[in-house]
Amino acid sequence: MNLGCLLASSFVLQLLRLPFIVETLPSVVKIGAIFTHDQKDSSTELAFKYAVYKINKDKIILPKTTLEYDIQYVPKDDSFHASKKACQQVKHGVQAVFGPSDPILGQHIHSICDALDIPHLEARLDLDAEAKEFSINLHPAQSLLNGAYQDVMEFLNWTKVGIIYEEDYGLVKLRELVRSPKSREMEVHLRQADPDSYRQVLSEMKSKEIRNVIVDTRPDHMHHFLRTILQLQMNDYKYHYLFTTFDIETFDLEDFKYNFVNITAFRLVDADDVGVRGILRDMERYQPAGNTILNKSKVIQAEPALMFDSVQVFAVGLRTLEQSHALRPANISCELEHPWDGGLSLINYINSVEMKGISGPIEFKEGRRIQFKLDLLKLKQHSLVKVGEWRPGVGVNVTDTAAFYEASSANVTLIVITILETPYVMMHYEKNYTGNSRFYGFCVDLLEAVAREVGFSYRLELVPDRKYGARDPETGEWNGIVRELMRHV
Ligand SMILES: *[C@@H]1O[C@H](CO)[C@@H](O)[C@H](O)[C@H]1NC(C)=O
Ligand SMILES: *[C@@H]1O[C@H](CO)[C@@H](O)[C@H](O)[C@H]1NC(C)=O
Ligand SMILES: *[C@@H]1O[C@H](CO)[C@@H](O)[C@H](O)[C@H]1NC(C)=O
Ligand SMILES: *[C@@H]1O[C@H](CO)[C@@H](O)[C@H](O)[C@H]1NC(C)=O
Ligand SMILES: *[C@@H]1O[C@H](CO)[C@@H](O)[C@H](O)[C@H]1NC(C)=O
Ligand SMILES: *[C@@H]1O[C@H](CO)[C@@H](O)[C@H](O)[C@H]1NC(C)=O
Ligand SMILES: *[C@@H]1O[C@H](CO)[C@@H](O)[C@H](O)[C@H]1NC(C)=O
Repeated sequence: MNLGCLLASSFVLQLLRLPFIVETLPSVVKIGAIFTHDQKDSSTELAFKYAVYKINKDKIILPKTTLEYDIQYVPKDDSFHASKKACQQVKHGVQAVFGPSDPILGQHIHSICDALDIPHLEARLDLDAEAKEFSINLHPAQSLLNGAYQDVMEFLNWTKVGIIYEEDYGLVKLRELVRSPKSREMEVHLRQADPDSYRQVLSEMKSKEIRNVIVDTRPDHMHHFLRTILQLQMNDYKYHYLFTTFDIETFDLEDFKYNFVNITAFRLVDADDVGVRGILRDMERYQPAGNTILNKSKVIQAEPALMFDSVQVFAVGLRTLEQSHALRPANISCELEHPWDGGLSLINYINSVEMKGISGPIEFKEGRRIQFKLDLLKLKQHSLVKVGEWRPGVGVNVTDTAAFYEASSANVTLIVITILETPYVMMHYEKNYTGNSRFYGFCVDLLEAVAREVGFSYRLELVPDRKYGARDPETGEWNGIVRELMRHV
C-alpha cells in the first residue's frame, strides 16, 4: 500500500468512526481506589477525590463521561483483607484501580489486577525490576533517582560520603549509589539508623570526619533527625546534607537557616510554574471537612501530587482510547479468573499518554515513568531556593552555582553590642587603636575564638547609654543593651 492509499483509508476510517464517538465510552466509568486506614482523609485521598471531581466538573478531558469512584480502606499489613476489598471493587465493575501506596499491599493488589487485566495506577516506589504489564506507576524509578543523586555528588566533587537509610529496603534502594563505576573513587559509608540510633550513627560520622551525608529517613522521623544534627552541632558550613525526600519544603528548617549548613534536596512539584500554581490555588479552595490537599500554601507533598496526576493520566488515556476503540464494561470477578477483554487496549493507551502534570512532564515506557523533572533546592539564609534542575537523559543543570561556592558565611558581619566590665570587656583609649582592636578582655578573646571557629565577622560597639537594660516602669520602654537588641530584631 502506498502512503496516499494509507492516508485515504485512514481518512475513511475516521469518517466511519465519527458518528460512534459518543457511544464508544459509557456515560459512567467506574474506578476504584484503595487506601490504608491511616490515609483516611489524608491529603492523598483528598487529591484523588478532587481530581475526579475536577474532571467531572470541567468536562474538558471527558466531555460525555462521568467518573464514579469507589473507595475502600484497608488495614496496613493485611494483604488478605486488601485483596478481598479489591475483589469487591472488581465485582462492582471498576475499570481501573488506584493505590495503595504501601509497597507490600501494592504488590498484592497488583497481582489481582494483572490476573484480570485491569489497569492498576500506582504512585509508589517500586524496587522490583521486573516489567509489570498492567501497572502504570507515576513514581519516578529509583534507578533514575539514583542517577540524579550521583550527578549532584559529582557536581559537588564529593569524595567521602555517608549514606544514612532507615527502612530495610533502603539498602536495595540506594546500593546502586555505592556500586556504580562513578563512585569507585569515592569512600562510601553506608549505615542503617532509626530514631534510637541517629545520635550514635551521626556521631560516628562526625568523628570519622564524614561531612557529606545522604539522608533517607522516614518522613515522620525527620524532625527527630534534624534535632540530632543540632544537638551534635553538625550544623555548620562544613557539613552538607542531601535529603532524598521530595517534601523537604514541608519540614521546619528554621533552626538551620542562619548557621550556613548546606542542605539540598529535590522536589517533584515546581510550584513556581504558572500552570502548576493555578492548579494548586484551586486545590487550596477545595477543603471538605477542614482537611487540606496542600501541606501549606503553595506546597503540596509528592504523594498527593502523584495521585492527582495519576487520575489525569487515566482520563487522558480513556479519551485517546475513545477515538479508536469501544470500552466494553468489565464483567469479571476474582473467582472466575477470566480477564477483562477491554483491559489490554486501555492500558496501552494509558501507557502512551504524554502530558504535563503537576509533577512535571509525564511519559511512560512499559508502565514506568521515564519523563519527569526535579528541582534542585538548597537552603539559603532565608529559605529553600531552587538552584537547578535535573531531567532523565539530561542530568543536572545548576543555574545558581554561586549557591554552592559562595562563602556566604564570610560575608556576614554581626554587630556585637557590649558594655565595659573588667575583666570581661576593657578598652584601650589611645588614638592608634581603632575598630575591634580597641577592646580586650575575657569576653573579647572568647568572641574572637568563636567567630574564627564558626566563620563570621563582627563589629564590637559600646551601648550608648552604658546600661545593661531595664524597663521604665512608667513608659514601659527598655533602655541599655536590651533596647539595642529590640531595635534590631
Ligand atoms: C569541583 O572540581 C572542579 C575541578 O577541580 C572545580 O572546577 C569545581 O569548582 C568544583 N566544584 C565544587 C562545587 O566545588
Ligand atoms: C557549604 O556551602 C558553602 C557555601 O555556601 C561552601 O563554602 C562549603 O564548602 C559547603 N560545604 C560543604 C560541605 O559542601
Ligand atoms: C505537612 O508535612 C509535615 C511533614 O511532612 C507533616 O508533619 C504535616 O502533618 C503536614 N501537614 C499537613 C496539613 O498536611
Ligand atoms: C456477566 O457475566 C456473567 C457470567 O459470565 C453472565 O451470566 C452475565 O450475564 C454477564 N453480565 C453482563 C451484564 O454482561
Ligand atoms: C540550564 O538551564 C538554563 C536556565 O533554565 C537554560 O538556559 C540552559 O539552556 C540549561 N542548560 C542545559 C545544558 O540544559
Ligand atoms: C558581601 O556582600 C555585599 C552585599 O551584601 C556585596 O556587595 C559584597 O560584594 C560581598 N562581598 C563578598 C566578598 O562576597
Ligand atoms: C599604640 O601606641 C602604644 C604606645 O603609645 C603602643 O604601646 C601600642 O603598641 C600601639 N598599638 C598599636 C595597635 O599600634
